[in-house]
Amino acid sequence: MPVVSHVSDVWFRVTDLEVASGRGCVITTTAGEEYLDFTSGIAVTSTGHCHPKVVSAIVEQAGRFIHAQVNIYRHDLLERLAARLAEVCPDPIDTFFFANSGSEATEGAVKLAKQVTGRPNIIVFTGSFHGRTHLTMAMTTSKTAYRAGHGPLPSGIFVATYPSALDHGGDAEAASAACLAHVRHLLATQTAPAETAAVVIEPVLGEGGYVPAPGSFLRGLAELCAEHGILFVADEVQTGFGRTGKMFAVEHYGVRPDVVVLAKGLGSGFPISAIGAPSELMARWPRGSHGGTYGGNPIGCAAALATLDVLTEDGFLDAVTARGRRLAAGLVEATSGDPGVAEVRALGLMVAVEFRQPETGMPDTARVSAILGHCLAEGHLILMSAGTYSQAIRFMPPLVVSEGEIDEALSVFEKALEATR
Ligand SMILES: Cc1ncc(COP(=O)(O)O)c(C=O)c1O
Repeated sequence: MPVVSHVSDVWFRVTDLEVASGRGCVITTTAGEEYLDFTSGIAVTSTGHCHPKVVSAIVEQAGRFIHAQVNIYRHDLLERLAARLAEVCPDPIDTFFFANSGSEATEGAVKLAKQVTGRPNIIVFTGSFHGRTHLTMAMTTSKTAYRAGHGPLPSGIFVATYPSALDHGGDAEAASAACLAHVRHLLATQTAPAETAAVVIEPVLGEGGYVPAPGSFLRGLAELCAEHGILFVADEVQTGFGRTGKMFAVEHYGVRPDVVVLAKGLGSGFPISAIGAPSELMARWPRGSHGGTYGGNPIGCAAALATLDVLTEDGFLDAVTARGRRLAAGLVEATSGDPGVAEVRALGLMVAVEFRQPETGMPDTARVSAILGHCLAEGHLILMSAGTYSQAIRFMPPLVVSEGEIDEALSVFEKALEATR
């Protein structure tokens, strides 16, 4: 008898593994095999799988209160979490709306921007990933696969070019200047400043290939926004909560966003997301114009508070930076002399290796796929691709990854490089 699955096949699959449990960076399958998880469930399990502090916070909260719908009454962790987020978020962000997923929070941030500016349009960037709802699909440009067949998509979205140094011969400042000029051109030709509510940007492209934006670009963009009364919205869904070695990626660049979008790492795997903005801006969001049944769920808040306790432990973020450097240095060494490797990119534990065909310079999807397969089958290492053509391999281990686990992953990856050269 063929095995019949009752689970939708619409999810693309990185592996066919069925997991039974997880601890730190390691997952155990129902067949009893262990794998090193360098995906963190797509940059989610910031404190590792089942961190004991997060588990006990969830268990304790589940026994107290599971659902407290925010319109009906407030539970006692809601204000506590908002106050804690105000402490860790870049100034002047101090007020929060809670939701469940990154898409929902990104879409909510756009609603906020439209309401407070009275303007209809949004600027996003090439290579972006903002989610799967109709609006966030329209804002997502990393792959047509996410959008095709779902049209018509909402209008009012304009796309500027993301500053990739690799696309400018490795010159980050040239990328920055060209892409700032493109934003100015969009404002002059397609969406006038008076019609533009917000610019929404990932400070490091996530799904689009782990490409950090040059600091000069982000600062220039923030200045342009301030000049025209356009809100600067940082989508920190993937970059946030220590992933890049700082609590938020914008902190690397001294940029002060008007709005931040938070999800993924916030709950260590429990679904919770948030929109953060200064109180005076949040106060202009008309009461009742946004909401949701589950946003601010008590168990999600408990998981987030415990996660923040772990992330703010002394030396935690320094360790993320050190581990990221060790991983990036190891990858530079392992890939040197490999003509198929175009670039190693890293900010904290957001690390990628980009593959291009040596003869043509075209994206090398096949090599990436072969390496991922080899790492999984021969080294029990789970990695994932990124980029429009799946031409990059991204390393996003839990932030609690040890030096030994990094070295183990490097050794598996090196063997896969050799086997697929
Ligand atoms: C930068 C960014 N924004 C938004 C999203 C959407 O988040 P979710 O899948 O939780 O809806 C993602 C998901 O990968 C993301 O990486």
